[in-house]
Amino acid sequence: MVSSDNHKISPIVISTALGLGGRGIFPYTLWPAYRRLLRSVRETGTTVLTKSSTRFKRKGNLIPWNPLTWKYIRRLPGMGMLNAYGLTNEGAARAGAEIRLAVDAGFRVIPNFYPEFAKGTDRAIRETLEALEIFQFLLGQRFWSVELNFSCPNSAEEIRENVAQGLKCSREVRGKYPGLFIIAKVSICHPYEFAQELEELGINAIHAINTIPYEIIYPPPHNPRSPLWQVNGGGVSGGPAFNAAYKYNRELRQKVKLFLIMGCGVTSREDVKKYFDLGADAVSFCTLALRDPLEAEKVILL
Ligand SMILES: Cc1cc2nc3c(=O)[nH]c(=O)nc-3n(C[C@H](O)[C@H](O)[C@H](O)COP(=O)(O)O)c2cc1C
Repeated sequence: MVSSDNHKISPIVISTALGLGGRGIFPYTLWPAYRRLLRSVRETGTTVLTKSSTRFKRKGNLIPWNPLTWKYIRRLPGMGMLNAYGLTNEGAARAGAEIRLAVDAGFRVIPNFYPEFAKGTDRAIRETLEALEIFQFLLGQRFWSVELNFSCPNSAEEIRENVAQGLKCSREVRGKYPGLFIIAKVSICHPYEFAQELEELGINAIHAINTIPYEIIYPPPHNPRSPLWQVNGGGVSGGPAFNAAYKYNRELRQKVKLFLIMGCGVTSREDVKKYFDLGADAVSFCTLALRDPLEAEKVILL
């Protein structure tokens, strides 16, 4: 791995909330508090994990320029969010170009890529390797790390069943890019053995966890079905997700030694401390930046 000060993960990491390129999401960028957060992220050298791209353009549920689709992101009480964004993006080449602009502007950005296993394992892996070649071409030496998203709750693919695919994909990426710092993003639905096997095959870091399927946080029959039930229910993030995410991370810390980015549910500096007390190597947040950028700024200035 090429190492320099830029090539390391900061103690607090901002995940997804600065968009596909890592410089901010429109229309949030119209909001002064969010712009202020962007400035602090850049000035503090905070690591930015992007929103997921796929190899080719993908139309998800939420289309930013179509207000009729904004219902796929909702606020939940307690600084929470429910989203079924569905991975809308313009593909890896566009994402790579955006990331290059962000890096040129002084952000420390790590691309997040979503292997589309629903297309078949081999094809998904081939597309992943192609995407990484694109990132390498566009970013050169500045492509030192990638995050592989194995845990999006909004896709048709069943998270619980993608363990073998995730391992195969990670093995191939490891083989082709021996020096790359690979982060695997996992779900609360994944057995701990997934992380253990990723560790065994030489993955560098685990990011746990992604948003949590609605019915895990609000189980039936005592709760109404998800308002986004027509699109798989969506994923819960922010405050309502913290307790479940904390429990998963506490257990995971006992099972793996590798670099662990703990996240999900962080809405304050106290939550960050709770994850560090569990033994997190870094702590991530997303929802906080979108709901309360001023508090998010306080957290990264911790
Ligand atoms: C609107 C929205 C979009 C998201 N999109 C992605 C994504 O594209 N890829 C990904 O790996 N995680 C995505 N996430 C998950 C976040 O990066 C984060 O892991 C999750 O929300 C839990 O952290 P939090 O409680 O701090 O938000 C998204 C979350 C939200 C709220």
